[in-house]
Amino acid sequence: MTVKFKVKAGKVAGHKTPLLVLFRGEADGGKISGDLAPAAESRIAALLPREQKEPGSGGGGELLLALPEGDGADRVLVLDLGQFRHMPLPEKLKTAAARAVQAAEKLHLGAVTLALDAPGGREALRSAVEGALLGAYRFEKYKGKKKEARPVTVELLLESGAQAEAKAVIARQEKISDAVAFARDLVNEPPSELVPEGLAAAARAMAGEEGLSVEVLDEKALVKNGYMGTYHVGRGSAHRPCMMILRYGARIKSPVHLVLVGKAITFDTGGISIKPAKDMWEMKGDMAGGAAVLGAMRAIARLRPAVRVTAIVPSAQNMIGRNALLPGDVIRAKNGKTVHIDNTDAEGRLILMDALIRAKEEGGTHVVDAATLTGSVVRALGTSVSGVFGTDQELVDRVIAAGRRTGEQLWQLPLVEEYRDMLKSDIADMDNSGRSPNAGAIVAALFLREFVDPSLKWAHLDIAGTFLTNKTWRYFRPGATGFGVRTFVELAEDLAR
Ligand code: BES
Ligand code: ZN
Ligand code: ZN
Repeated sequence: MTVKFKVKAGKVAGHKTPLLVLFRGEADGGKISGDLAPAAESRIAALLPREQKEPGSGGGGELLLALPEGDGADRVLVLDLGQFRHMPLPEKLKTAAARAVQAAEKLHLGAVTLALDAPGGREALRSAVEGALLGAYRFEKYKGKKKEARPVTVELLLESGAQAEAKAVIARQEKISDAVAFARDLVNEPPSELVPEGLAAAARAMAGEEGLSVEVLDEKALVKNGYMGTYHVGRGSAHRPCMMILRYGARIKSPVHLVLVGKAITFDTGGISIKPAKDMWEMKGDMAGGAAVLGAMRAIARLRPAVRVTAIVPSAQNMIGRNALLPGDVIRAKNGKTVHIDNTDAEGRLILMDALIRAKEEGGTHVVDAATLTGSVVRALGTSVSGVFGTDQELVDRVIAAGRRTGEQLWQLPLVEEYRDMLKSDIADMDNSGRSPNAGAIVAALFLREFVDPSLKWAHLDIAGTFLTNKTWRYFRPGATGFGVRTFVELAEDLAR
């Protein structure tokens, strides 16, 4: 569903609209929605459940009512922000705005008005626009019977004087939500429809549209350049592996050169160390880190922060096959370190190792990777929070802060030095998976660190828990979340300052 915005100044009382959405609750002071005419207001108050009469009390949910005698609006939807407990106020508003747009869709209305006409509504504007856009996303390409794709006009009713600001806010959020939708689409695509070469084609097309420079190393170039991890992981598949490199701002003379790296295993069967069947389909999204990086590049190209940003996305399909990588094989990485494969399902780190080496070769100063890397991080942090590791505390702090500003939750996990022993190998310099069932996310991060040049500031995001959701929640629906896109965009802008 596409969302179009209309900005209008004025008061809710008497405002004509098919659906008026009022936001109740003023947790952080400042009302968000203004008042209806007293008659309608008291009618709503009478209908509200008792616990909801205290705005923001957390007791109530939503109330939809028709106002036949009319206060201008045909229907009023009252969204009590208190129902979204545990969320910071901006997230409550994004969630509420997503609900509002979804309500308009359910009621087959072409338009909905969000009442942000009270002084606090100005602060809320950004969140409401973001929530409406992200909440409107749907992936229906493979539905036989398509829902009508009628666009919904979201009218933003603001206090006067806020219109110019609103236009800028909308323009910015549209760029970001387009990028999030782009990443979500890539993750949601069936795995046989999106193989490494297809992902590269999508990256090429996007780069062309946005004016980014793009280079794709094919299988031959991988071998020639010594990127043997990606080559070997891709060996068992009929679809050839590759590495995408996208560059933004080559002429920008910034002290910082940010390199974003994203794991893009277009399907992870586990390889010869095959995964169990249950929920294996989710491994079509094992390229979510790469998708987040590509999405971020799309937004960065449009927002034009004053910082150089390069994206590196290594891609392969981790398949069973007669030429597949075998447990017991040894891979020599470009930095000279040798890796003994004790589990072909620990493949993400093998393709990231090439990309991290490339990050230094590209002249990066800061490198941040995102990868659906371990089941371990899901057990540690669940599905709402991604794990973050790093060698530079300032960078890690900036990544976490960028995430906080966008509503993407990150929690730092430690690079525990003594756990490096778990990667000790009898055969090569290290094993790829580690001998202990414990602390898998940490061991994986320690593995990656072996391939990060010590001159680089490095942070690593393990998004295995957050890339997909199986419920309608916040401004997500079942499927890809696009986790990481917004954090990366914020981070690039932060590093440009
Ligand atoms: N892609 C998986 C990790 C994953 C698990 C992502 C669940 C999303 C949801 C990764 O390649 C993997 O298989 N990791 C193994 C590593 C182990 C063999 C050391 C894991 O976490 O079990
Ligand atoms: Zn795996
Ligand atoms: Zn994987």
